[in-house]
Amino acid sequence: MTTPTCEFHQSVLLAETVALLAPAPGAIFVDGTLGGGGHSEAFLMAGARVIGLDRDPEALAFAGERLKRFGEQFTGVRANFADAGAVLDGLGVEGIDGALLDIGVSSRQLDAAGRGFSFQADGPLDMRMDPDGGVTAADVVNGASEEELARIFREYGEEGNARRIAREIVRNRTDGTYGTDGKFVTTLDLARCVEKINPRRSRTHPATKVFQALRIAVNGELEALERALPVFSERLNAGGRFGVLTFHSLEDRMVKKFFKDRATEWLDRPEWPERRRNPQFQFRLVTGKPVVAGEEESVRNPRSRSAKLRVVERISL
Ligand SMILES: C[S@@+](CC[C@H](N)C(=O)[O-])C[C@H]1O[C@@H](n2cnc3c(N)ncnc32)[C@H](O)[C@@H]1O
Repeated sequence: MTTPTCEFHQSVLLAETVALLAPAPGAIFVDGTLGGGGHSEAFLMAGARVIGLDRDPEALAFAGERLKRFGEQFTGVRANFADAGAVLDGLGVEGIDGALLDIGVSSRQLDAAGRGFSFQADGPLDMRMDPDGGVTAADVVNGASEEELARIFREYGEEGNARRIAREIVRNRTDGTYGTDGKFVTTLDLARCVEKINPRRSRTHPATKVFQALRIAVNGELEALERALPVFSERLNAGGRFGVLTFHSLEDRMVKKFFKDRATEWLDRPEWPERRRNPQFQFRLVTGKPVVAGEEESVRNPRSRSAKLRVVERISL
């Protein structure tokens, strides 16, 4: 399958995802991260009915336009994928045959200066996927304690200088080196502060990890994934497949453990007289090792380089 070019977002591991999730006429698929609609379009072209969710109204509008030729075969809903159960109930859909989560932000969100995700372009320090609710990155940066900021940068960004960057940010509240009146207002206010602690050494921007960490915190990305995994799993019909595409190790670890725990039929502990059946057993692992991008895709779309795709199949019990 050739990947259609889309200025909104280049779908990652598209052919591999379609081959592994095997959409077919009559199947019901949930695309929990509609984005530019690339994966959904491929599922629709294979004949599946697709329910596409996104928190971002701009993504829904774009994908809705792109996919309108499929008529009632496609339903777009603005929702957090963690609330997929309620969305399916509302649509009167009980079981599903396939599901995909392509975690993180789209290229469009990253590139649009006004959304505040980019350290390259000046914009408001926002970073909310859903622009109508919740705290902004500026709220977190200007309001959180030094300890909390350091934890966010360390845990969600694996930033080596987490504590020093947090200290520099908090110092700004009294000495006002960056931004306006001691407050960080724009993306470049923060990028400059991080650059003072992390000087440029490679082609990777020194604020990359801090921005990633803030984005994850602002959007509650790990919490949403943790809530969503059991919801999607429970809705799968026997034989239905569930794929998750992740872009950093924290998410991949969570998905790997969740899938493995539920793909283990028997549990054994030294203190038990005999092994016991795992009450959570519900999956067969379709991918042992995660699927990663090949050479051609890595060159064409650098974002794909960190992608990992894991797929499970619901077994009949
Ligand atoms: C990487 S893009 C998806 C790209 C899409 N697969 C494609 O082929 O164009 C991720 C999208 O998921 C959305 N998103 C991220 N977390 C979400 C959540 N918890 N609930 C709903 N949408 C979410 C983002 O707004 C973004 O549009």
